[in-house]
Amino acid sequence: MSIVKINSLTVPAEQREVLEQRFASRAGTVESADGFEWFELLRPLEGTDNYLVYTRWRSEEDFQAWMEGPMKAAHQGGGAGGGDGAPKHKPAATGSTVWSFEVVQQAAPKQG
Ligand code: HEM
Repeated sequence: MSIVKINSLTVPAEQREVLEQRFASRAGTVESADGFEWFELLRPLEGTDNYLVYTRWRSEEDFQAWMEGPMKAAHQGGGAGGGDGAPKHKPAATGSTVWSFEVVQQAAPKQG
């Protein structure tokens, strides 16, 4: 089954809008990555102040391939730095941690 990679972002209150704006104008290239299955930007409501970037992939290899190439270009705008490692502007997040999971069960609503 699929794997889930979550990037947990620490975002100061005054930077939330900046972060959401950056995602609103994100590269939109992840959709074309081989093995990409899902993306969600999750805004915290309760229990944490961290934003979560939820991504789901067919396999670890597909995620690694994205990380080594397209991911760098997709982050040129600021987030994690561009291909040269230098962000074009100050990141909105002050910290980030990547969590990895394996999907062991899943369900979707019944059709019709
Ligand atoms: C240093 C760590 C990171 C930070 C601070 C960060 C932050 C950001 C920000 C602000 C954006 C919006 C576009 C931009 O301005 O660059 C973005 C895009 C994105 N980030 Fe990250 N990011 C980091 C690493 C990661 C990692 C490890 C993943 C994988 C779980 C990830 C998943 C994504 C995805 C899927 C997009 C959308 C790309 C697209 O539309 O093609 N990010 N990130």
